[in-house]
Amino acid sequence: MRTQVVIVGGGPSGLLLGQLLHLKGIETVILERKTRDYVLGRIRAGILETGLVDMMREAGVSKRMDTECFIHHGTCISYDGEMFDINFQKLIGENVIVYGQTEVTRDLYDARDTAGCRTVFEVEDVEIRDADTDNPFVTFNVDGSARRIDCDFVAGCDGFHGVSRKTIPDTVLKEYEKVYPFGWLGVLSETPPVHEELIYANSERGFALCSMRNDSLSRYYVQCGLNDDLQEWSDDRFWDELKRRVPEAIADSLVTGPSIEKSIAPLRSFVCEPMRWGRLFLCGDAAHIVPPTGAKGLNTAASDVHYLNEGLVQYYRDGDTHGIDTYSEKALARIWKAERFSWATTNMLHRFPDQSEFDLKMQRAEIESLHYNETAQRWFAQNYVGLPY
Ligand code: APR
Ligand code: PHB
Repeated sequence: MRTQVVIVGGGPSGLLLGQLLHLKGIETVILERKTRDYVLGRIRAGILETGLVDMMREAGVSKRMDTECFIHHGTCISYDGEMFDINFQKLIGENVIVYGQTEVTRDLYDARDTAGCRTVFEVEDVEIRDADTDNPFVTFNVDGSARRIDCDFVAGCDGFHGVSRKTIPDTVLKEYEKVYPFGWLGVLSETPPVHEELIYANSERGFALCSMRNDSLSRYYVQCGLNDDLQEWSDDRFWDELKRRVPEAIADSLVTGPSIEKSIAPLRSFVCEPMRWGRLFLCGDAAHIVPPTGAKGLNTAASDVHYLNEGLVQYYRDGDTHGIDTYSEKALARIWKAERFSWATTNMLHRFPDQSEFDLKMQRAEIESLHYNETAQRWFAQNYVGLPY
């Protein structure tokens, strides 16, 4: 079998790329290791930058998003008992929207079905072969039989644990990584959000975040130990801890309820360079990871898709390789800035095990600068709503 672009991974990166290419008449096959239900069962962040919102519209998959999303003009930061708002709208005239990544993924799968594009689920042993030649191909097993797809290009959209990045020789690839000494314990509950905007809280007991999906679905997080056992975090313990990390007025108005999902996620910053090897292009979590403070995971995946789509369309339309030749460089230039924002925000808001009194004073001074300095707020706002592509 032959196609133009094999996309390894049917998460948001692979699906969005597939949809944009389809609209330009470029044929793709998506190979996904899990089932569709499994992919749609993952709970991830839900803050979309304007760039991603525009791409959802360009991909023709914005109908539900446009009616169900919530526009957020700003976000709140709390420290000790104080809370302040960073108003993106007032500072830079832009917003973000709240719409769950699960919903983005669902809309993209539905559009792919409608378009009749091919997705192969539950593939095993995917191998990307001859990516450094003009005739790459991908082999895999499905339903117990071995398959091969020849193609022009391979898009490695298979997340952090995928095979794509591992296909690039060690002599070519350089990896940069920072692992944080804590995790986030997240709870999803069918309760109304405690506040109309997100609250990122720095407290002496550790970080907390009050987020939401809609009017009756809330998402909360508390910083926890990396080796914490989920069994030891009863719902009551979680709510009690969350209330102790947010300002009193917020704690008093928090509506609690049973968790419908509870999980612990480690925090990591990771980037690999380059994001291209021959005819293989890495996209999204396959090439980089950010800690979730700042909600850049899905949005950085989207900017990669933007540059790769642009490059592939240019190649097929004009026979011009400039876009694909500069893909890695352009994607990485934006990624590193999002990495810096996510790292800086993580450092500003969490308690670290080895923090000295001096470190704590520095952290406090940084939060106060953000509270009282409009230039600092503008920088935060520009990064939160997303730097231009
Ligand atoms: N073969 C085929 N598919 C694979 C393989 C493999 N060897 N390995 C992984 N996959 C699939 C996974 O099952 C998953 O569905 O690739 C997909 C990758 O999806 P994501 O991990 O969601 O990554 P991406 O599409 O880049 O989306 C980035 O997801 O992790 C979040 O915070 C991140 O929000 C960001 C977004
Ligand atoms: C979420 O709603 O899950 C969420 C929101 C903002 C973040 C991280 C996660 O920074």
